[in-house]
Amino acid sequence: MYIPNENRYGSMTYRRCGNSGVMLPALSLGLWHNFGNITPYATQQALLRTAFDCGITHFDLANNYGPPYGEAERNFGRLMDEDWRPHRDELFISTKAGYDMWPGPYGDHGSRKYLISSLDQSLKRMRLDYVDLFYHHRPDPETPIEETMGALDQIVRSGKALYVGISNYGPAQAEAAIKELKRLGTPCLIHQPRYSMLDRHIENGLTDVLRKEKVGCIVFQPLAGGMLTGKYLNGIPADSRMAKDNRFLKPDSLTEDTVRKVTALKEIADARGEKLHQLALQWVLRDEVVTSALIGASRPEQITDNAEILSMPPLSEEEIQKIDSILK
Ligand SMILES: NC(=O)c1ccc[n+]([C@@H]2O[C@H](COP(=O)([O-])OP(=O)(O)OC[C@H]3O[C@@H](n4cnc5c(N)ncnc54)[C@H](OP(=O)(O)O)[C@@H]3O)[C@@H](O)[C@H]2O)c1
Repeated sequence: MYIPNENRYGSMTYRRCGNSGVMLPALSLGLWHNFGNITPYATQQALLRTAFDCGITHFDLANNYGPPYGEAERNFGRLMDEDWRPHRDELFISTKAGYDMWPGPYGDHGSRKYLISSLDQSLKRMRLDYVDLFYHHRPDPETPIEETMGALDQIVRSGKALYVGISNYGPAQAEAAIKELKRLGTPCLIHQPRYSMLDRHIENGLTDVLRKEKVGCIVFQPLAGGMLTGKYLNGIPADSRMAKDNRFLKPDSLTEDTVRKVTALKEIADARGEKLHQLALQWVLRDEVVTSALIGASRPEQITDNAEILSMPPLSEEEIQKIDSILK
């Protein structure tokens, strides 16, 4: 039987999500990679246990995480029964729908039909009565925002999710969705965009909207899938994502410009006596508008290694400026 570390809440920092009552851990764990049928079940179990032992209370899923689609939720459901049932109320569990999930016209995009049936399927796979958070995974310009947000509102009112959020929406799309949810009486809890030292697009308007509307922000891929660990500076290690499962992280992402930036950033991390990925995580969390950094991990030690940032001194103004000049 799994007995969690009894000091788990002492080492983690929890940040308020927008102006809601929800506190999220500064680091959250995503199940996009390493929870499908190509990762041993024992590794998956160890990853979740290690995360929770570090005070990570938020686990992020989506209908199509795998491979194959649905498998991460299915594995999570099995782990729910084995480890997590007694701790359900200590966990904040999310899932999403918005990308392709099943064949035909009803298994993709942003219709009420798709979102509601997808969440019903997710709950069965995850062996849950409700999720804490349900997202529309990407904007769908072909479906009226009133329909998509109306579906999210209906989901909360039906008790199948406690909160709702949006992911990958641009600033104007996010503002429209937030306003519509507000009008319906179901506030938007959080936005989930990509953000890292190698992708700062959210600084061009989106963070302004979230700050103004007091909506939380959980940023995915803060380590750019592993590129911000420095592990690819001397080739592609055999046990890395790029070698083992490069569906979304191709060797051609290692451009000359990226290698130059990563090399220079590593010097700043070295000067602080830190690892590059620790610097990268501290950097995305430097602004309070970011509630949580949503990491992935292939090994439990990576999670404990990343969680060390919680006891490290914050970045100085001078370091932030140095980083800015490298990233220009
Ligand atoms: N909303 C969306 O559209 C969307 C899209 C993508 C992701 N997400 C969410 O974001 C989550 C995180 O995405 P991600 O896994 O790409 O994020 P990431 O944190 O940028 O990358 C994680 C990878 O970096 C490596 N790593 C992490 N910590 C390390 C350490 N301490 N030392 C060495 N290597 C380390 C591992 O790769 P190795 O395999 O090389 O060890 C790990 O799998 C997903 O699980 C998902 O929940 C959401």
